[in-house]
Amino acid sequence: MQKYKELIFASHNKGKIAEIREILSPLGIKVLSGDDLKLPDVEETGKTFEENAYLKALAAAKEQNIPCIADDSGLCVDAIGGRPGVYTARYAPNRDFDKGMDKLLEELAATKSGNRSAHFSCVIVLACPDGRYKSFEGRVDGCIASHKQGNAGFGYDPIFIPTGFNRSFAEFSGEEKNKISHRGRALQKFISYLKDLDEV
Ligand code: IMP
Repeated sequence: MQKYKELIFASHNKGKIAEIREILSPLGIKVLSGDDLKLPDVEETGKTFEENAYLKALAAAKEQNIPCIADDSGLCVDAIGGRPGVYTARYAPNRDFDKGMDKLLEELAATKSGNRSAHFSCVIVLACPDGRYKSFEGRVDGCIASHKQGNAGFGYDPIFIPTGFNRSFAEFSGEEKNKISHRGRALQKFISYLKDLDEV
């Protein structure tokens, strides 16, 4: 991996930053975060994960005058029409995800549908200061647990059980989660793109 020895990931979310560092550092890529560079918060006015990731990556790229990456992600629950989706961060009262999980479990119970299927989506965008960009999408299917389980991870991890497992993401190690998660899958596509660039 020659072209990018250092990458700016325009995020202040410590959970996301830790996951991205865990995947990119073994490849010799140092990840600088929004906190490291004191990047301003960007309002997420887009209607899709890609639009929001682009807004965040472009703002950082313009400010730093180099290509930057950002992601936008969220939890989409089938029985409530795919919500909270792009509004996942804002769905939690005061960004308190413990309360956000309670709210989601209550909302889901109120539907009485019995359908607990859900997925996490993530889009990573690499944007250049001039506005050109590439995006990489990842998704993991699963279901919403009946109650919170586990202490690892971040956000809604304690209530998301990926398909094929009987544990929540908050009961996975970081390495295990990265292998199958929405963000891990989007990052693998991004890494393949970087490897292709090296061969040009
Ligand atoms: P955003 O991408 O900054 O808009 O935030 C999306 C929100 O979705 C995060 O703040 C988390 O609450 C939630 N989220 C995204 N990815 C994950 C994950 O891997 N585990 C748990 N929650 C997540």
